[in-house]
Amino acid sequence: MPGVCPVNSSLQLLLLLWATHNTMATNWLSLARQPLARAGTAPCGRLRGLTAGQLGVCRGRGEFMESVRKGAEMTIDECQHQFRYRRWNCSTTTRGVSVFGKVLSQGTREAAFVYALGAAAVAVAVTRGCSRGELQKCGCDRKVRGVSPEGFQWSGCSDNLSYGVAFSQSFVDEPERARGLSSGRSLMNLHNNEAGRKAILHNMRVECKCHGVSGSCELRTCWKVMPPFRRVGSVLKDRFDGATEARLSLVGGRPVLLPRDTLLKPPSPRDLLYLVPSPDFCQPDPPHGILGTRGRRCNGTSRLAPDACEVVCCGLGFQTGRAEVVQRCSCKFSWCCSVRCQQCRNIVLLHTCTE
Ligand SMILES: *[C@@H]1O[C@H](CO)[C@@H](O)[C@H](O)[C@H]1NC(C)=O
Ligand SMILES: *[C@@H]1O[C@H](CO)[C@@H](O)[C@H](O)[C@H]1NC(C)=O
Ligand SMILES: *[C@@H]1O[C@H](CO)[C@@H](O)[C@H](O)[C@H]1NC(C)=O
Repeated sequence: MPGVCPVNSSLQLLLLLWATHNTMATNWLSLARQPLARAGTAPCGRLRGLTAGQLGVCRGRGEFMESVRKGAEMTIDECQHQFRYRRWNCSTTTRGVSVFGKVLSQGTREAAFVYALGAAAVAVAVTRGCSRGELQKCGCDRKVRGVSPEGFQWSGCSDNLSYGVAFSQSFVDEPERARGLSSGRSLMNLHNNEAGRKAILHNMRVECKCHGVSGSCELRTCWKVMPPFRRVGSVLKDRFDGATEARLSLVGGRPVLLPRDTLLKPPSPRDLLYLVPSPDFCQPDPPHGILGTRGRRCNGTSRLAPDACEVVCCGLGFQTGRAEVVQRCSCKFSWCCSVRCQQCRNIVLLHTCTE
């Protein structure tokens, strides 16, 4: 049938375009599984999962690739921690450059979270590298100096977030810019990437050290530090729970994302946006990276929350078992300066979804 062939191949082309269009942007996360030689000598040509533009960044600023690799590891670990009691638990695939499989190929809430977390992780890893003096092109922020209104001395070595953020924008956002800013998915990814980086900026803290005779703290020097990455993960997890469903609209001829629910006010730059509702993640669908929830741990004491056994196990039942955990207990402070503890064995209840 001669008529079928062109239809088929154009369909295939469409599918191909759709697939590349949708899955490429987070493939840099696969760097978590690719050893780099030495910092500064990233074997750019051999790295898989990077777009042409990202390879350009690799060639121009190779010394940053170790930070990108660390950022990829941090993203996967933190995602698995934050989602350990969720139906989708950030399970990774074992093969290929797409670390989370096809779960992120659609513009879901989960995709929004992973993009935000990944963009934040790269900014954090690069900034840490800068502050520790591991990277030649950047250092710590010496503009924060002098005496503060509270009377402490700035140490002159604060985390310079601006370099890390700028690097994250040039590397993590690159596939979106390359793809063009008229697609809903690019706008969604860019918005969420920026929201991820904002989660660091809005949670910076001040750390101090005391100086003076036997710790009298006559002089205090302080510096600005980024929040621990765990904190960034928790902030973004809250944003995930309150994420806004958006759709592509034209405002003054420009494509923008607006809430689907027209009664909602436009999302703030710190909110996460998604375009399509998530699947329920109950049925295993391995080709799409969905493993189902049988045998999974869940929280037996929470009710109706997303980590509750009824929810995680999709109403299919769960079992309660006992497990022994060893913890430190009856700790005593002994002069000076150590803490002695005993080891206690406790029995805890462990809930898991019926296999
Ligand atoms: C921090 O990084 C930015 C961006 O690279 C740079 O312009 C600025 O000079 C740095 N700040 C300091 C004080 O080093
Ligand atoms: C996620 O859940 C799957 C299936 O329930 C389980 O096999 C896997 O170990 C879990 N992964 C993580 C990282 O917790
Ligand atoms: C289970 O849920 C309860 C109530 O929401 C919460 O207090 C508790 O910390 C949760 N347990 C775990 C292990 O997360």
